[in-house]
Amino acid sequence: MRLIIGISGASGVVMGYHMLKVLKQIPEIETHLILTEGAIKNFECETEILIDDVTVLADVVHSNKNLAASISSGSFKTDGMVVIPCSMKTVSGIASGYATNLLIRAADVCIKEGRKVVIVPREMPMSRIHLRNIKEAADNGCIVIPPMLTFYNGSNSVEKQVNHIIGKILMQFNIEFKDFVPWEGCE
Ligand SMILES: Cc1cc2nc3c(=O)[nH]c(=O)nc-3n(C[C@H](O)[C@H](O)[C@H](O)COP(=O)(O)O)c2cc1C
Repeated sequence: MRLIIGISGASGVVMGYHMLKVLKQIPEIETHLILTEGAIKNFECETEILIDDVTVLADVVHSNKNLAASISSGSFKTDGMVVIPCSMKTVSGIASGYATNLLIRAADVCIKEGRKVVIVPREMPMSRIHLRNIKEAADNGCIVIPPMLTFYNGSNSVEKQVNHIIGKILMQFNIEFKDFVPWEGCE
């Protein structure tokens, strides 16, 4: 399996980092990582994680400027893409097909090839512009998984909340994640 992971400059880049850590444990999955300039800035502003500690987790790291990268073409087969977190700027690019960087081009390619694109849009509050772009992305086949808080499964720490979001994303690709706690019913 081959998955593209895009990390953009919305708050919560740590979610992308944890996603890569989880995928690193599954040798059958080849990960292709794109970090936007915004994401690199946010790792600096929001975390103590070094960019080298992020890139080391991926099998292939692409420059966001390289529109000639393998994942820029539909002839390079992948199983889809996750954009976590997804900034409102990147949602807008994906929704409109305005592919000025590799992250947006890779999403554009996945959409045109009928491959799954999961976006994790993060902004608060969301304007009508943001909501319209997210709807446009959904109308064009993207799966929208906002990083929402979950209370039904004992996720009483940030780490557990992030695990739950990652689990919901991986479910979209039928990937098992041992730290995901599903709802088991309430009798
Ligand atoms: C600390 C920090 C937090 C940010 N949080 C958000 C956010 O939650 N959502 C968002 O859409 N943009 C956020 N931004 C703004 C984006 O980084 C900015 O719009 C950038 O151009 C996005 O470009 P990219 O999608 O190519 O990374 C944030 C910026 C900084 C520096």
